[in-house]
Amino acid sequence: MKGVKLLGFGHYCPENIVTNKDLETIVETTDDWIIKRTGIKERRISTGEGTVELAYKAALNALENSNCIKDDIDLIIVATTSPDKIMPSTACSIQGLLGCKNAAAFDISAACSGFVYSLIVASSLIKGTDKKRALIIGSEVLSKIIDWSDRSTCVLFGDGAGAAVLELCEEEDSIISTCFSADGNLGEKSLVAAELKLNTPFAQDNSIEKRYVEMKGGEVFKFAVSVLPEIVKELLSKSNEDIDNIKYIIPHQANLRIIDEAARRLKINKEKFYINVDRYGNTSAASIPIALSELFEKDLIKKGDKIILAAFGGGLTWAGALIKF
Ligand code: ACO
Repeated sequence: MKGVKLLGFGHYCPENIVTNKDLETIVETTDDWIIKRTGIKERRISTGEGTVELAYKAALNALENSNCIKDDIDLIIVATTSPDKIMPSTACSIQGLLGCKNAAAFDISAACSGFVYSLIVASSLIKGTDKKRALIIGSEVLSKIIDWSDRSTCVLFGDGAGAAVLELCEEEDSIISTCFSADGNLGEKSLVAAELKLNTPFAQDNSIEKRYVEMKGGEVFKFAVSVLPEIVKELLSKSNEDIDNIKYIIPHQANLRIIDEAARRLKINKEKFYINVDRYGNTSAASIPIALSELFEKDLIKKGDKIILAAFGGGLTWAGALIKF
């Protein structure tokens, strides 16, 4: 039997820390409001590094932690909603920078669910094609698509990147069960970013291009508190597993209140959720791999531990994976 093994993780976030107090000087908000409504205390905001640069630094960290060299990698997938360019893809830029000459490379656009989507796609390709070792990355510089005059969104997001290396193995598959899905109608109504308009001599519609994230926070909140517990239940049921055997749930880090409500609905102790939204805010596709990388950095995961990844975000999309290390 051939399975997929997760070799290691890495992450990188810009050094510049922006606190809630700093935001008080930019928009009409307060540290107290942001903490009470979101749990976020600070976030990292790039002062110059782009999505490729963050992805590259996270990738180097993951390769080192996996004891891999660039020539070992034959597949690179980057999940991002905030690429530096539409073309080349972020993954192709990383392939060039790393010099992984044997690697195929492409991006995945599934917003905050992008890293888990990438994990599912990469593991399927590893098992189903001649690609045997993948580097997957979630990288975002969301600050470039945030309207810094809109207090309802600019306080929520942060920049960062996380990465993982996966390889084909002869042992039992580490990825025990997965789920991923989408609701495009709900996505159009509740969360849209950077709508590119026709800008040609033939265009009938001359309405202004929208560059920034626009979100109906309440709608996304309702969706998130319902889908997060559903992902956990679906993964447990698919793998015939009990929640008591799960060491950590790593939810997408969007808002502490969403995690609190998911814990209440699942009737489980909040301690089971790994939380770092207080330090990074919502880093979209980077949030889950940053959390995973931190768990390993802090030596909180041992061989045989089982964890659940549970993501939701723009699209709307959602995705989950139950993993055994
Ligand atoms: N500071 C102070 N007041 C504010 C701020 C702010 N930063 N932002 C909004 N307010 C005000 C509003 O104007 C409103 O005032 P009003 O009552 O006078 O009209 C009041 O606070 C309440 O606003 P709500 O939007 O109802 O606040 P809510 O409690 O819903 O919290 C939030 C907003 C934090 C955005 C919440 O809805 C949320 O977390 N939603 C989910 C977001 C999410 O999970 N996104 C994930 C996907 S992101 C992606 O995929 C890229």
